[in-house]
Amino acid sequence: MRKNISQCIDMNSKYCPCLLADTNQCVFCSHLKGEATCNCNWSGMCILYEKHWQYNKQQGEEPIKIRVEEEVEFKVQEQIGQNTFILEMEVSCELAGQLKKIGSFIFVRSPKDPQFFNFPVNIMKVAKNTLQIGMEAVGPKSLSILADNNNKLIVRGPYYSGVLGGPWIDNITDGNIILVAGGIGQAPAFPLAVQLMNTNNHVRAILAPGKVGKIFIDQQLAEMGVEVHSVSSLRQFGMPMLQEWVAMKPDLIVSAGPDEQHYGVIAAMQAGGANIPMVATNNATMCCGEGICGSCLRKTRDNKNIRMCKQQIDFSTLIED
Ligand code: FES
Repeated sequence: MRKNISQCIDMNSKYCPCLLADTNQCVFCSHLKGEATCNCNWSGMCILYEKHWQYNKQQGEEPIKIRVEEEVEFKVQEQIGQNTFILEMEVSCELAGQLKKIGSFIFVRSPKDPQFFNFPVNIMKVAKNTLQIGMEAVGPKSLSILADNNNKLIVRGPYYSGVLGGPWIDNITDGNIILVAGGIGQAPAFPLAVQLMNTNNHVRAILAPGKVGKIFIDQQLAEMGVEVHSVSSLRQFGMPMLQEWVAMKPDLIVSAGPDEQHYGVIAAMQAGGANIPMVATNNATMCCGEGICGSCLRKTRDNKNIRMCKQQIDFSTLIED
C-alpha cells in the first residue's frame, strides 16, 4: 500500500490522460514528461498508450475528459456555528455516484460570480443524488454563496485528492484506527469513518470543536459504533490522549483538520514512539484542481514539487509551510 500513495489520484479514472499529459507535464509517465525512457511503476494502465492510441479511436469525441459543471439549488441543512453551514443539494446521478469515492471534493461558486470564484469543498455525505457539504463562509468566495438569499450553486467535479493516503482507507479491514477531527475537519472525517466502519474496523475518534465552536458529528459516529471521545481542545487534551493511544500500536491514524493539527498528530506519534501510517485531509490551496494553475504546489523534504490536487503523498514528507 505504501506504493499506492505516491501515484496520481486520477490515474485509472476516466479523467486520465488529463490536460497535463496533453502538455507533456504528466506527473506519472516519464515519456509524457519529455524523457526518453519509460521508468514508471506499472499500475495496470499505460498513460502513453491511452494518450496516443485511444484518442485515435475516438474520432469526433472530445479527447480529454473535462469535469462538468452543474447548476443546482441548495438549502442550508444546518447552521453549525456563526460562519459554518451544512449545505444540501441534488446533483445528477452520474456526479453523485462518482463522489462516493474516498477523498472526493467539488468546486463550487455562486452562478452570478465569475469562474475564478470557484473554491473546493469536501463531500460530507452522498445519499442517492443528494450531497451534503460543510462550508465555512469566511471569505469573498464563500460569503457570496449565501448573499442576497441566493439558493443556487455551480458545482464542478468530481475531484479526488481531498485526503492524502486515501488508499489506506480503501484497503484496511479489521484494523484498529484512531480518527482525530477538529473544527470543519469533522465534515470530511465523516465519510472516512463510514468507510472504515463498513470494512469492520474498530475506530476510536477524538473530536474537538475547533474554530467552528461545535462538535457536530459525535452522535452520528456513535450510532455507527465509533468509540467517540469529545474534548474541548485538541492541543490541550486531544494530543496527550493520542500520545497514550499510539503506544497501543493502532494500524492507522486519520487526521481531519488543518495542517497545524496534522503536525500535532505527527508530534504525538513521535512522542509515543510509533511509526504508523497516517491519512490526512488535504489543505492545499486549490484553484483549478487540474494540475494547471500551480496554486497547490508544495515541496517535499527531498526537494520535489508536488501538485497536491493530483498527487497522493505521505503528509509527513512535506516541508512545513
Ligand atoms: S489546483 Fe491548480 S495545479 Fe493544483
